Formats: sequence, C-alpha cells, structure tokens
Amino acid sequence: MVRKTLIAGNWKMNGLLEDGVALAKGVAQEVKKVGRKDCEFLICPPFTLLTSAKKAIKGSKTMLGAQDCHFAEKGAHTGDVSPVMLKDLGCQYVIVGHSERRTNHHESNELIAKKAEAAIKAGLKVIICIGETEAERDAGKTINVCTTQIMGSVPECSTAQNTVIAYEPVWAIGTGRTPTTAEVQEVHAAIRKVIAKKLGRANANKMRILYGGSMKPSNAKDLLALPDVDGGLIGGASLKVADFMAIAAAS
Ligand code: PGA
Repeated sequence: MVRKTLIAGNWKMNGLLEDGVALAKGVAQEVKKVGRKDCEFLICPPFTLLTSAKKAIKGSKTMLGAQDCHFAEKGAHTGDVSPVMLKDLGCQYVIVGHSERRTNHHESNELIAKKAEAAIKAGLKVIICIGETEAERDAGKTINVCTTQIMGSVPECSTAQNTVIAYEPVWAIGTGRTPTTAEVQEVHAAIRKVIAKKLGRANANKMRILYGGSMKPSNAKDLLALPDVDGGLIGGASLKVADFMAIAAAS
C-alpha cells in the first residue's frame, strides 16, 4: 500500500510579513532542489501570511494550507474565515481540530466535523487532529480518546483523498517529549482500524495518518519509518527551513 508521505508545517501564530515570506521562499527553494516525487510538502502559515506565502511558493511543489476555518460559507461571523475564502485564495489544505483549538476555543468533535465537512465541500483537503492529554494517557485511555475523537470529528464525506488524520498527543506538542516509537505505531494502527470501521477498509488503507508533537530532525527518521506513520505535522521545527527539510529528508 503506497501512501505518499506528507510533510506539513504548522506555523501556528508565528511570522510577520518579512520573516514569513522568507521562510516560505526558503522552503519552496529547497523543495524544488530536492525534487521528490514520493513526498508532498505543505506549509500552513497564519491567515495573515497566506496571500504572500502563496506568491513566495509559486513555481515550487509546496502546497498551501490554513490552520482553521469556519463551517459557514459566509455571513455574520466576525473574525472567522470560511473554507470558500481559503480555497479562493489558493489554499489546498486546512487543519481542523488542533488541540490548541480544542482547548483554547473549546471546540467539540461535532463542531470540528462540521468544519471538516464544509472544507471538503469547498474543495479543500482537511487535516483532522486528534490526540490524548497526559492525564488520559496515564489513565490508559489513549486509544479510547482517539476513537471517540475520530468517530465524532471525521465527517461522513471523508475519504482517503480528501482527509488526512494527524495524531498529536497533547503532552508531546511543543514539549520536546514524544511517545516511544512502539507507542506511536500502536496508536496509529488503532486509528487505522477505527477509520476502517467508520469509512471502510479501502479508505483506511489509503488514508494518511501523520504524527505530530515535537517531531524534529533527530527523531524523524525513527517516527517516519513506522509502518502506519505517513508523514508529520510539524510545529516548532517547521519555522526553520533547515529543520523542516531535514525532517523530510529523514522520510
Ligand atoms: P510541535 O507542534 O512540533 O511544536 O510539537 C506540532 C503541532 O502542534 O502541530
């Protein structure tokens, strides 16, 4: 089963115009240089940088994504951005359900499913994030939590073509800590089983499941070599061209 590796950078709330454009250009240049056909590259800058990042990556195979969207197409939603708007300005992807949004904005599985469905209908691909907290892991609930999140936040219209899952243990995000490779593989394999239950075996076999949470050049090789890990969603290390590309090179 060939699943193309996806190396995705989640810039979060980082980057002003000048350094954001420089980062996007730097990634695009390197992506052109390595010219890989077995690996896709995606950057997800903040909304404010999407238009300039799009210009900066023009002509390279680097793809553009946003970090969140509303579920409505338009209307009275002050401060929100719709999937149609993201598609209109050239995004191919949008991240939904990141744990920072689940926590800081109290986003429920139901809301995330609505966002994902709207994004897919607008022609975007979605990266749906799931993952347990440290307390949940300590209580042995990791697989249960991930199962509930998948069942609740992956919409019925998801397929292997329009949806990517990112497993991001909350306690590993930005902390420098990661689960062991055996633990990551165990969760990814379990996630694939749940996807099979929800969307059928064919979709499950083809759907990419990324690992996220303190992925860096030094641990990427081991993580990306796992049979059910199909790429990475990278936060901190995606803000440096060399680190981002070193992670890709490890795949
Ligand atoms: P990190 O973040 O790589 O900085 O841990 C990953 C993410 O939250 O997507």
